[in-house]
Amino acid sequence: MAKAIIAGLLSSGLSPARLYASAASDKTRTDVAKRFGIASGSNSDACDGADVIVLAVKPQRLEHVCVEIQPHIKPNTLIISVAAGIDCASIETWLGDHAIVRCMPNTPSSIGMGAAGLFANHSVTEQQKQTAQRILEAVGVAMYVDSEPLIDAVTAVSGSGPAYFFLFIEAMADAGEQLGLSREVASALAKQTALGASSLAKQSETDIQQLRKNVTSPKGTTEQAIMSFEKNDLRGLVTQAMQACASRAKSLSNELGAN
Ligand SMILES: NC(=O)c1ccc[n+]([C@@H]2O[C@H](COP(=O)([O-])OP(=O)(O)OC[C@H]3O[C@@H](n4cnc5c(N)ncnc54)[C@H](OP(=O)(O)O)[C@@H]3O)[C@@H](O)[C@H]2O)c1
Repeated sequence: MAKAIIAGLLSSGLSPARLYASAASDKTRTDVAKRFGIASGSNSDACDGADVIVLAVKPQRLEHVCVEIQPHIKPNTLIISVAAGIDCASIETWLGDHAIVRCMPNTPSSIGMGAAGLFANHSVTEQQKQTAQRILEAVGVAMYVDSEPLIDAVTAVSGSGPAYFFLFIEAMADAGEQLGLSREVASALAKQTALGASSLAKQSETDIQQLRKNVTSPKGTTEQAIMSFEKNDLRGLVTQAMQACASRAKSLSNELGAN
């Protein structure tokens, strides 16, 4: 995730001189410095004097890293955490009272097509909110939610969302194969259809329901497929799946957090 953000920031025009990376191993530090042409070093060196610190370690490592860097953070530094399931209160417990923006990004960030939900705690200024949004926008779309529990809903929509689409593409490719196409053709057509449909949905001013109706002529072929989905309660299945996801996000938060 950190590499994706670094790559996005550089390609959006940020000077490499404004970035500094750290990692657990010397190998990653050296690789990242070489690949991106930025400085790298220890966690404390990375935090000394920094205006913005992006925490992108695994959730289980976050407490350890926060305790290590806490003495090196300036009072008005903006902290951005992308660690799944760790709330602002936990980070405040480990770092003290700081401006913290908590983010839930997703894997398409690695190709600049991410979708992230952001929550800012009470200490974040308007300018810092915009800074955090610009940083996450370097790897896709980034939107604020008003209350921290809504990050669980973001997890259910976009955090875990890529996997739902992968499953759907997989199911379409399997069904295409059962209808006689080769695996290669069924899979390529399913992937391109997902890309085409989502690009059209994003670019078009027509709402999503109307776009669907536009390809669903009465008594036509698509109508048969849609009627079958509706009869089998696809919408109910999606709702149940996303409620299960949000509820797991909430319980993981309780397991991983400090409070
Ligand atoms: N991947 C996603 O799509 C996604 C989506 C949502 C949220 N997230 C969140 O993003 C965070 C990072 O995930 P990831 O997939 O990018 O993990 P990752 O590939 O394992 O990267 C974690 C990085 O943290 C470094 N690290 C570990 N311990 C450290 C320490 N004590 N001090 C400094 N650096 C340390 C590691 O360094 P080494 O390379 O030297 O081991 C590694 O570079 C996680 O909290 C995850 O919940 C990820």
